[in-house]
Amino acid sequence: MKEEVTVNGKDFSVYLTKEEIIGRVWDLGQQITNDYRGKTPIILSVLNGAFIFTADLVRHIELPLNIEFVRLSSYEGTSSTGKLTEVLGLKTDLENQDVIIVEDIVDTGFTLSNFVKTVKSKNPNSVKIVSLLRKPEAISFPVEIDYVGFDIPNDFVLGYGLDYDEVGRELPQIYKLVE
Ligand code: IMP
Ligand code: MG
Repeated sequence: MKEEVTVNGKDFSVYLTKEEIIGRVWDLGQQITNDYRGKTPIILSVLNGAFIFTADLVRHIELPLNIEFVRLSSYEGTSSTGKLTEVLGLKTDLENQDVIIVEDIVDTGFTLSNFVKTVKSKNPNSVKIVSLLRKPEAISFPVEIDYVGFDIPNDFVLGYGLDYDEVGRELPQIYKLVE
């Protein structure tokens, strides 16, 4: 597997190998399986970035699941709060459901903190968040992540679903920008 890749003229080197990622995804799947025994949670996967992580994670959760995909887009609102997050594709009634939000990466926390509010407003029984990656140094909108794959430095990463200007999502490992 490639140690280095060049995307849009920028060089990236491998940061998390396929084996490291899948080992951790397996751990997360086991934890979720133990925590939700006897339940049928709803997986709410955030497109596009979480598509590969979600596909691997659900195959390591040994429970019946409902799986839904949502797309979030941030835009400048006209209210005094400034930016807003729009949620597209949320069809399922979440009332009394056990919701597990699946994200690829939490950077500032803006996207997720807004999405969690939307989900909670639909009266679910419970809401938990799983994110493959988290950048603790970048957080400026606090949001509690229940299951974290890896805490990483504040560097740009791509692969395993994550893109750089829509390029590189298909890479099987996670690569970090070489400064
Ligand atoms: P936040 O709202 O600042 O937490 O940003 C979250 C979104 O920014 C993620 O869902 C990603 O789409 C994108 N993002 C943040 N950091 C990275 C990165 O290092 N690589 C690729 N995408 C990133
Ligand atoms: Mg994303």
